[in-house]
Amino acid sequence: MVRLDWLAALLATASLARAVPNAPPIVPGAYIVEYQDDQDSAAFVEALPGDASLRKDLRFQLFKGASIQFPDAETAEDMAATVAKMSIVKRVYPVKRYAIPNYTVHSTGNAAVNSVLSKRQDGANDTFSPHLMTQVNKFRDAGITGTGLKIGIVDTGTDYLHPALGGCFGPGCLVSYGADLVGDSFNGKNTPMPDSDPMDNCNGHGTHVAGIIAAQAGKNPYGILGAAQGVTLGSFRVFGCSGDVSNDILIAAYNMAYEAGSDIITASIGGASGWSEDPWATVVSRIVAKGVPCVVSAGNDGSDGIFYASTAANGKAVTAIASVDNTVSPSLLSNATYTVNGGALASFGFTAGDPDAWANVSLPLWAVSFNTTDPANGCDPYPASTPNLAGYVVLVRRGTCTFVQKASNAAAKGAKYVIYYNNIGGSNGVTAQVAGIKGVAMVTANTGATWIKALAAGSNITVNMIDPETGPMFLTNFPNTDTPGFLSTYTSWGPTFEVDVKPQFSTPGGMILSTYPRALGSYGVLSGTSMACPLAAAIYALIISVRKTKDPKTLENLISATAHPNVFQDGRNSYPILAPVPQQGGGLVQAWDAAHATTILSVSSLSFNDTDHFKAVHSFDIQNTGKTDVSFSLGHIGAATAYTFATTADITPDTFPNELDDSIATLSFGSSGSVAVAAGQTKTVQVTVVPPAGLDAKRLPVYSGYITINGSDGSAFSLPYLGVAGSMHGAVVLDKSQTLLSHSFDSKSAPVAANLTFTLPPPGYANDTAYRNKTDQPKLVVTLAMGSALVRADLVAIGNGTVTNATTILGTTTLGSADEFPSYWNTRGPFEYTFDGKLADGTFVPPGLYKFAVKALRIFGNPELASEYDATESVPFRVRYTSLPKRSLIRGMA
Ligand SMILES: *[C@@H]1O[C@H](CO)[C@@H](O)[C@H](O)[C@H]1NC(C)=O
Ligand SMILES: *[C@@H]1O[C@H](CO)[C@@H](O)[C@H](O)[C@H]1NC(C)=O
Ligand SMILES: *[C@@H]1O[C@H](CO)[C@@H](O)[C@H](O)[C@H]1NC(C)=O
Ligand SMILES: *[C@@H]1O[C@H](CO)[C@@H](O)[C@H](O)[C@H]1NC(C)=O
Ligand SMILES: *[C@@H]1O[C@H](CO)[C@@H](O)[C@H](O)[C@H]1NC(C)=O
Ligand SMILES: *[C@@H]1O[C@H](CO)[C@@H](O)[C@H](O)[C@H]1NC(C)=O
Ligand SMILES: *[C@@H]1O[C@H](CO)[C@@H](O)[C@H](O)[C@H]1NC(C)=O
Ligand SMILES: *[C@@H]1O[C@H](CO)[C@@H](O)[C@H](O)[C@H]1NC(C)=O
Ligand SMILES: *[C@@H]1O[C@H](CO)[C@@H](O)[C@H](O)[C@H]1NC(C)=O
Repeated sequence: MVRLDWLAALLATASLARAVPNAPPIVPGAYIVEYQDDQDSAAFVEALPGDASLRKDLRFQLFKGASIQFPDAETAEDMAATVAKMSIVKRVYPVKRYAIPNYTVHSTGNAAVNSVLSKRQDGANDTFSPHLMTQVNKFRDAGITGTGLKIGIVDTGTDYLHPALGGCFGPGCLVSYGADLVGDSFNGKNTPMPDSDPMDNCNGHGTHVAGIIAAQAGKNPYGILGAAQGVTLGSFRVFGCSGDVSNDILIAAYNMAYEAGSDIITASIGGASGWSEDPWATVVSRIVAKGVPCVVSAGNDGSDGIFYASTAANGKAVTAIASVDNTVSPSLLSNATYTVNGGALASFGFTAGDPDAWANVSLPLWAVSFNTTDPANGCDPYPASTPNLAGYVVLVRRGTCTFVQKASNAAAKGAKYVIYYNNIGGSNGVTAQVAGIKGVAMVTANTGATWIKALAAGSNITVNMIDPETGPMFLTNFPNTDTPGFLSTYTSWGPTFEVDVKPQFSTPGGMILSTYPRALGSYGVLSGTSMACPLAAAIYALIISVRKTKDPKTLENLISATAHPNVFQDGRNSYPILAPVPQQGGGLVQAWDAAHATTILSVSSLSFNDTDHFKAVHSFDIQNTGKTDVSFSLGHIGAATAYTFATTADITPDTFPNELDDSIATLSFGSSGSVAVAAGQTKTVQVTVVPPAGLDAKRLPVYSGYITINGSDGSAFSLPYLGVAGSMHGAVVLDKSQTLLSHSFDSKSAPVAANLTFTLPPPGYANDTAYRNKTDQPKLVVTLAMGSALVRADLVAIGNGTVTNATTILGTTTLGSADEFPSYWNTRGPFEYTFDGKLADGTFVPPGLYKFAVKALRIFGNPELASEYDATESVPFRVRYTSLPKRSLIRGMA
């Protein structure tokens, strides 16, 4: 939802350039400046041209700079270029916006559950399923809770008044430090209103994250346990109630969390990237280099397939956390009753949807059909014989078509209420805003089957619904029979375009019960890598408690080597081969093993790069910190090789699941395949790699697997590796067929015919209310098949006469780069640019006939050479300008 909002907002602003689905949008006129040396930001901004104002002072131990805002986005690029040339300035970056990864809310509690307090889990052993999956339960059972350590959370704030989250904020409280950097109404675009109080009573994401780390036992009705209840939390609120965050705020929050003495920093935030070079990722990398482990959620773009890593998770030394699904599917259900043929009351649970006007609804059920295995139940219009359904609750099976489609078909026959019964385990929230429908809800497959059976037998069932906002609720832990312990299908796949191994490892993030703001129901079941990442942060605290080292590299190496890889599953079926490393990294974290291993590897993974940069021999160290000599036998288990492209003809990566192949690399380890490491000693191991043969290199196969290291002391470790059995440089980055000229009034971006005339607003007036969205402008659509570190769009004049000042850039004779280009570190996918006649140097092209020359640098390409770019040209288009009316007519009083 969040992303659709910003997309709509961007498209509505005709002169604003970029709409990259999934990729972070740019904030107009705003820049992050990094200084060469520290200096006073107020004085710095005062001295700048163009009425710049200070957005945020960014002067920290590890980053000296400021973010600045130019009031006139039209001239800001030129101003920024001027600033970048100042000798006191090291670099200038555009301010970008990032969303909370697209997570799912399955069910939440309500006002009634606040009053329920039981002492479940207080003192008893930890049986919380995400903890059993990761060995976290062993720490609590042994009394290890991360006491004394500080975890900084960069998120939506925390409802610290929640009974399970300490009940207060400040020294001595569970949430003991932090700040609100933005205020409730911040949306990533407007002015932040910071204050000292990081309360979250309107969003929920950060409160859920905090509970995963540190929810207090015995203070909640559902036995929710934080994984590291002894830590204190720092809450750095960077989101308002909805919307995005800008990276200047993220940079500030990370530096504040670092300077406040956080031992670990976690953020469940990101945006599609695939490049480690952006400023936010750079700041996180610097903090890691100072000895503070930073975990960041891998992202929820798994459906986009391989090579879709997210920033800042894809930063160097940043630990990217993937998600696996919980072994149980917890659901918070409203407790209602029903009767069969007016008999005794029986109870059932439902998940209220949106809309949810269920208070005082007592009506008989009417089923679309009695077939409980019909996959497309209720997808077609109901038959003419259907009665008026105004007096019924319609019961329909989930599946095939949308909830909205099913509700619309029911509404067409007068229905006001619809209950969906699930076609998989558990029960979920549903959204079906349809005219005439007042309430939607879901019940489990079992409840549906019970009812259908009775209806089919001719019985009448009356359901007595309750108000989901105030009525009683209960928690049910359904077994997850569909995806238990498997990689969540939504988890984003690495590697980066430069073949860095991403993600690092996985923790449970799918279907996680945790705390939620009291105002939003106190408890919630959510899914996302957002829910996996905080568990990893808590695990770092537990391992630090045991090992007494905070060194990020040592910890990452230990956690990766002891993690358990799992087989591939596509959301339904599992396959007898390990899931690719670009999906699961080292595998599911086994925290106790990591805390107690006496063997430490010198790396957390190996990248064999692609065929152009392939090196057959790699090495790593095995350190034996134990008291006995250990002999290690070295072996290898291949994981599934994933083809990037579905066919040789494709240039765009396939969507999930990419085609898998069981060809694996051959690895050898010297003559004996074993290495003896005496107590206290370190030995270097050489690995010789032969990539898998017989694969279609043009389809860019990514092979991966695990080096197995089994000790004579019974220990067992696995080291993930990956490589590309093809050339990254050989991959086409520019999809020429989808790079075209359209016009700004065409939301579908169809190509325009050659030589169309565009009559543009007077130069510099494109965003003026008199013209904004009132003038049809040329729209350049650039579609990147793969990521490109540098994309150019240069204006080429056709014919002669008008142009006197052309230059030659990379072999193209051009008037210069279009405004907003060149564009750096681009993810794959389409982006759009609306041309108002302006070039990057701030001048406007004279009226005339032009085309765009588009160039996208190949991966690992040399930016100086034209041959390293994929290039195409738009059709010619003619530019004219509206003549400028009297200024007063446009700018009013001014
Ligand atoms: C912008 O103009 C287009 C074409 O006239 C129109 O469809 C769209 O709704 C307008 N958007 C806004 C925000 O006015
Ligand atoms: C366009 O103008 C609107 C207000 O009129 C402003 O909010 C927006 O930032 C401007 N966009 C650009 C690119 O200047
Ligand atoms: C969010 O995820 C859901 C489910 O995976 C998907 O249907 C939806 O399109 C996603 N939304 C965005 C904005 O990515
Ligand atoms: C709790 O865990 C400890 C340590 O693993 C074990 O010894 C004990 O038997 C467990 N208690 C119960 C009731 O399961
Ligand atoms: C649901 O409510 C009924 C009373 O209406 C009660 O008997 C039953 O225990 C409740 N179920 C749960 C799971 O709390
Ligand atoms: C139920 O629907 C499924 C799928 O359409 C069909 O295969 C099956 O025969 C139907 N069962 C009955 C009893 O009609
Ligand atoms: C169900 O209700 C219908 C209509 O009210 C009635 O005709 C029928 O006898 C009832 N069936 C049973 C089994 O009570
Ligand atoms: C792959 O090789 C290129 C060229 O040397 C290098 O820039 C890149 O960092 C390498 N990737 C990895 C993961 O080492
Ligand atoms: C576009 O205009 C140019 C210059 O007048 C002409 O050479 C060219 O043939 C035209 N193209 C089309 C497709 O009409």
